[in-house]
Amino acid sequence: MSYQYISVDSIERVGRITINRPQALNALSVPLMDEVGEAINAFEADEGIGAIIITGTEKAFAAGADIKDMAGLDGESALAQDFPYNASGWHALNRCRKPVIAAVSGFALGGGCELAMACDFIIAADNARFGQPEVKLGIIPGAGGTQRLIRAVGKAKAMELCLTGRMMEADEAERAGLVAYVTPADELQTRALATAQTIAAQSSTGTAMIKDCINQAMEIPLSSGLVYERRVLQALFGSDDQREGMTAFVEKRKPAFKRK
Ligand code: CAA
Repeated sequence: MSYQYISVDSIERVGRITINRPQALNALSVPLMDEVGEAINAFEADEGIGAIIITGTEKAFAAGADIKDMAGLDGESALAQDFPYNASGWHALNRCRKPVIAAVSGFALGGGCELAMACDFIIAADNARFGQPEVKLGIIPGAGGTQRLIRAVGKAKAMELCLTGRMMEADEAERAGLVAYVTPADELQTRALATAQTIAAQSSTGTAMIKDCINQAMEIPLSSGLVYERRVLQALFGSDDQREGMTAFVEKRKPAFKRK
């Protein structure tokens, strides 16, 4: 598969999607997000892949939806196309059952911040800058900015960021709980890859179910979430990976999980 706006590679069970449209600071045009969707779906279908990284270039993860493309949009067309979900990348990411890490360097603004937040977690380079500047364009976030940011950083900071449109630096984003950890910019790819490889080496049933349970926690009451988690755990007893994981522990060896 050849792509125009992204590049794709895989390293030891990790599939990596690199957004590569530097002349527009990786602005997320519809064709670009369609390519992201195709790449996610291909990695999802590949049993040789256990985790996915979405990253960008040094200066920008993505500076948002493509403003030049959006400028002429009218409300009726936006509604008819279901903008910005008219690009398959958003759907593919929301559906993906494999863990997806956003490795963010530089700007992650508007749709770029939303893309990072739609991943399972964010690793940030120390030069990363996050923000939802849509208010400055006379619009509001449209791919989860008002919904996921509040869940990550709480109401006060989500309100302040969305209402002012200001950028938040990596260390503030880490303190606020938006990112899992911050790394020096020149170590971002190595550190993200190492984290992804650790995940990709686990039981793929386990990682898919952990992702499912944690995502459920964002949607349902605690009492229902606790039952859901317990039922998933109970269902995993007797699975190939449970038997292998526990037998390997008892035999003091590394588990050899089946790849499916
Ligand atoms: N869409 C289209 N083009 C963009 C872009 C975007 N979101 N962001 C940057 N670019 C382009 C610029 O137009 C410029 O192109 P030209 O050289 O052809 O003029 C090129 O990328 C480099 O950008 P700058 O010269 O502006 O770079 P800078 O370093 O001076 O500034 C920046 C960087 C602060 C990120 C600035 O580019 C900027 O503010 N970009 C827009 C950020 C933004 O508002 N994002 C939200 C978009 S709305 C959205 O995402 C809606 C949604 O939720 C779906």
